[in-house]
Amino acid sequence: MKTLLVEKFRSAYGRAPEICAYAPGRIEFIGNHTDYNGGTVLGAALDRGVWVALAGRADALRQWVSDQRPARVTSRAEDGAKRVGVESWVNYPLGVLAALPEFGVAAPAGFDFLAMSNLPSGAGLSSSAAIELSSALAFLEMAGARVARETVVKIARHAENHFVGVPCGILDQGVSGFGQKNQLVWIDCRGPLFATVPLPAASHFWIFNTHTKHALVDGLYAARHRECMTAAQALGVGLLVETSSTTLAAAQAALAPESARRARHVVEEIARVALARTSLEAGDLAAVGQLLTASHRSSQLLFENSTEELDFLVDALVVSPQVFGARLTGGGFGGAVMALTSAAFGEAEAHATAALYREKFGATPEILHAQTGDGATLI
Ligand code: GLA
Repeated sequence: MKTLLVEKFRSAYGRAPEICAYAPGRIEFIGNHTDYNGGTVLGAALDRGVWVALAGRADALRQWVSDQRPARVTSRAEDGAKRVGVESWVNYPLGVLAALPEFGVAAPAGFDFLAMSNLPSGAGLSSSAAIELSSALAFLEMAGARVARETVVKIARHAENHFVGVPCGILDQGVSGFGQKNQLVWIDCRGPLFATVPLPAASHFWIFNTHTKHALVDGLYAARHRECMTAAQALGVGLLVETSSTTLAAAQAALAPESARRARHVVEEIARVALARTSLEAGDLAAVGQLLTASHRSSQLLFENSTEELDFLVDALVVSPQVFGARLTGGGFGGAVMALTSAAFGEAEAHATAALYREKFGATPEILHAQTGDGATLI
């Protein structure tokens, strides 16, 4: 891929890049909306993501090219304002540049920048984290700054929270930063603490991207974030991770029904993450699968971040004996469903599921037999 990246950079700018970096997309394995509530989460880095190539300039001009967008964007070092419309993809690297001084690093002035991606977009596979992490590695290298991997992850999340404006947790950036092939990344989001958990060899991931995305997805995500903070406040804790099922049950009557549902999802989901980790370590994929499906049902009924399309896919998948479990992956309100399957689930089964979906919704979901991969790195 590096050869292709260099070639694309050359054809855009007529010279070779000085720095190249890569960061993967991720699957949210289990731990839905637990991260910003201080809980735990398990995710896997994919073997696909976003590559960034960079070369410095003597002036303060910044040029931005993406192989996913037709037009070149230009800006100047002294003008770091947020972009809108077709140029808004630049907000991810611009957000990283705005974050650097917060971490004691001076942002580079002028440069030529190119991004290349092989992640399906809008699938909830975190193309935004992938471009943030790869940009962060490239800009840090250009600034001559040596920082810990955890700091790169924090810079990327800072960009998303404070510049892009999504109050996300650390899941996407943490998994993209700490991913390893054939491993899941476990994050205790309060630390944050990062660890890896081996993925049993018999596990296969199939992703079904519905290409549906609620028009208000960012607003709905922020609304869920707010609802969780309101529930925590009503329960007298800073974050929902500090409460328990017992406390929650006792306080049920004092909470607004919606707050109670959101809090119950988060508290029970954190418990499912712990059980999933134990079941993975025991190699019990059937138990893991049941937890995944239970997570989806909780999204569907309690957190209300699923959609008819996602529910349909989960229902269609879980009746198959080769499927251990299935759930929406990522923020929800559209995007993709992930199924954990045995090796016996193949192209034929995946296409049969897609055919059922097409019959019902008149559109074909994109199918991806996803492989795990390594985390963000300079290349
Ligand atoms: C999005 C966010 C993450 C996380 C998930 C839901 O992917 O970026 O921080 O909250 O949704 O679990």
